[in-house]
Amino acid sequence: MVALNVELGTRSYPIHIGRGLLDNPDILRTAVSGRNVVIISNETVAPLYLNKVRRHLDDLRVGDIILPDGEQYKTLGTLESIFTQLLEGHFDRNTTLIALGGGVVGDIAGFAAASYQRGIKFVQIPTTLLAQVDSSVGGKTGVNHPLGKNMIGAFHQPLAVIIDTETLDTLPDRELNAGLAEVIKYGLLGDAEFFDWLEENIDMLRARDHHSLAYAIKRSCQNKASIVAQDEREQGSRALLNLGHTFGHAIETGLGYGQWLHGEAVACGMLMAARLSGELGWLPTAAIDRIEALLLKAGLPVTPPAELSQQRMRELMAIDKKVIDGQLRLVLLRDIGHALVTDQFDPAALDRVLTPSKAA
Ligand SMILES: NC(=O)c1ccc[n+]([C@@H]2O[C@H](COP(=O)([O-])OP(=O)(O)OC[C@H]3O[C@@H](n4cnc5c(N)ncnc54)[C@H](O)[C@@H]3O)[C@@H](O)[C@H]2O)c1
Ligand SMILES: [Zn+2]
Repeated sequence: MVALNVELGTRSYPIHIGRGLLDNPDILRTAVSGRNVVIISNETVAPLYLNKVRRHLDDLRVGDIILPDGEQYKTLGTLESIFTQLLEGHFDRNTTLIALGGGVVGDIAGFAAASYQRGIKFVQIPTTLLAQVDSSVGGKTGVNHPLGKNMIGAFHQPLAVIIDTETLDTLPDRELNAGLAEVIKYGLLGDAEFFDWLEENIDMLRARDHHSLAYAIKRSCQNKASIVAQDEREQGSRALLNLGHTFGHAIETGLGYGQWLHGEAVACGMLMAARLSGELGWLPTAAIDRIEALLLKAGLPVTPPAELSQQRMRELMAIDKKVIDGQLRLVLLRDIGHALVTDQFDPAALDRVLTPSKAA
């Protein structure tokens, strides 16, 4: 087992990573605070893992809230139904919420914890690769609005993150690949050595080799924890974690939530960011080719959907959270392992990258 720490002063917390951690009662018991616990999961994950978690808590008062499955339920409506169930169950401010599931469950449960009775404690038990390497760490919580992804939310750090890599055994291949997009992101934005390692080991990862997956998760979490520790509230360097996301969120919103997986949209978005960096003369063609090749080997899409025109993409990108005072800012690449946030780019170059036929 590996334990990392997210260093945030009084809000610091551990990330436990290991195979079979859900069989270890001590880790969960140490993480949970108080005598009331509510596990939030969804209809796919609950039948697989709810009882595994619950059995360690049988001396506490434990409730559960099972959500419908899907990005399209990451809404204020779902949040309200969680609050209703918490209130009907008389769960008070000393309740700990446990998010058991992928990033959708983690983001909603985290936001419920951030806002229920002005804030209660919560623990993340991520069960998708994407949630294990990204969304469960760092305290960003929230829901979507029909006009934009993740537009309503709060920063709220968990008490602990418990990553049982065995849960990946039941994850569909397409979801595993989507998680690899965020893994590749860490290599691209600041860890060139990890990018090299990923090029060497991508087949092992897709074959679900346990050691390779555990290493990729650990290294991703180390990268994320160190960026979050430097810039918890995204005043600066944390924005680099959004590499590919301004493009990706536009694809997700434009096609309707749940059409493309988040990781798929991010993969395509990262290549669009790389292509724009190339158009600006920052990133050599050889590097763009390496990025495209790795994404393809990871089973990820690299061509934006034909139904989203350049104009529609621009409209969608204009409501991104990285727009400040009307100015679109993008995370672009100087090299593999070197990203930067900038609003200094030629709009015509962006248009070329957004034109579906050109990008294909
Ligand atoms: N908060 C953050 O910092 C952050 C970062 C990245 C992404 N996100 C958000 O995360 C979400 C995407 O998360 P995701 O990719 O985990 O999607 P998801 O939560 O929808 O999970 C993907 C699918 O896998 C199923 N599933 C989960 N665990 C399983 C398991 N062990 N076995 C079988 N099936 C399982 C789910 O029920 C779902 O159908 C997006 O909403 C995105 O915006 C948030
Ligand atoms: Zn993401």
